[in-house]
Amino acid sequence: MSSTDTLKSQLSLPVICAPMFLVSTPRLVIECCKNGVVGSFPALNIRPQKKLDEWLTEVSTSLEQYKQDNPNAKVAPFAVNQVVHPSNSRLMADHALIKKHKVPFVITSQGNPSDIVKDVHSWGGIVFHDVIKTQHAKKAIEAGVDGIIVVAAGAGGHGGTLNPFALIREIRAFWDGPLALAGAINDGQGIRAAEVLGADYVYMGTRFIATQEAQVPNEYKAMLIKSQIEDIIYSDYFTGVHANYLKDSLIQAGIDISALTGKDKVDLDLGNTNSWKDIWSAGHGVGGIQDVPSVAELVASLIKEYRIACDTPAFSL
Ligand SMILES: Cc1cc2nc3c(=O)[nH]c(=O)nc-3n(C[C@H](O)[C@H](O)[C@H](O)COP(=O)(O)O)c2cc1C
Repeated sequence: MSSTDTLKSQLSLPVICAPMFLVSTPRLVIECCKNGVVGSFPALNIRPQKKLDEWLTEVSTSLEQYKQDNPNAKVAPFAVNQVVHPSNSRLMADHALIKKHKVPFVITSQGNPSDIVKDVHSWGGIVFHDVIKTQHAKKAIEAGVDGIIVVAAGAGGHGGTLNPFALIREIRAFWDGPLALAGAINDGQGIRAAEVLGADYVYMGTRFIATQEAQVPNEYKAMLIKSQIEDIIYSDYFTGVHANYLKDSLIQAGIDISALTGKDKVDLDLGNTNSWKDIWSAGHGVGGIQDVPSVAELVASLIKEYRIACDTPAFSL
């Protein structure tokens, strides 16, 4: 069985709830996995670093217990995201804990994942690498990754700038292994559309922020419901790397939007504003978010929509 078949056999839908800085917590991850979609969190979410051991113990033991209590349930594996760029001084310390817990799924980003890939394979785990460009996908394949996550324009966090139709088809032309598509996918129709384009999985972030189990301020969830695509601002002002932010969270933090979106770069006084904590990220898909369901309710409606999307071609040949 290929790694795609093995992973798919553990899922109720081909969905990975994406790792999100300051959003993903064990509660959200566990609830996703219990409902048959991969739950994940960035290792850098956890401070101090040693606490990662506690998170990994909590997620692993809860899921093992759940599997024992529900032997027929589809329980997805969980994933941890590691930034493999040399600037990540925690990389090896975090990785030692990931190794200790034999984490089944590692998602790498930004850099060369080859050393991590070899190690994760030693305990039977899989590694997917996230990319925003074709050349990054080629490098990740050379590094031996099991899967590629294509992060297209409009994705929450550090979304890319490239059109999903073009990018996934370009990568699919030279990679026949597992492929996930990310960027503004909210519903079962989006999952089906991604599959038609050649994806095996979808990677959904923003939609999962508006769930009961996401431990973010209620105002953040309310802002997701209120916002539309034009309320997303793509800026490199706060971290030096372009990311998508909710306009209203910038206004709430006292930031002059016109200075950010104007032609000339302007120095803003950010005071004590902390990006990701006070300034909230979301992708272009916000317009499709109208409620705050539990993860179980969300997965049930994704399955329902996916079934409809699979059964109803719009054009009869
Ligand atoms: C609040 C937020 C925080 C994020 N933090 C991270 C992160 O720490 N590491 C990472 O690889 N991606 C991060 N992302 C990007 C997601 O993993 C994923 O690529 C993206 O959410 C998919 O697009 P969508 O939000 O439109 O579904 C973040 C996204 C959001 C919305």
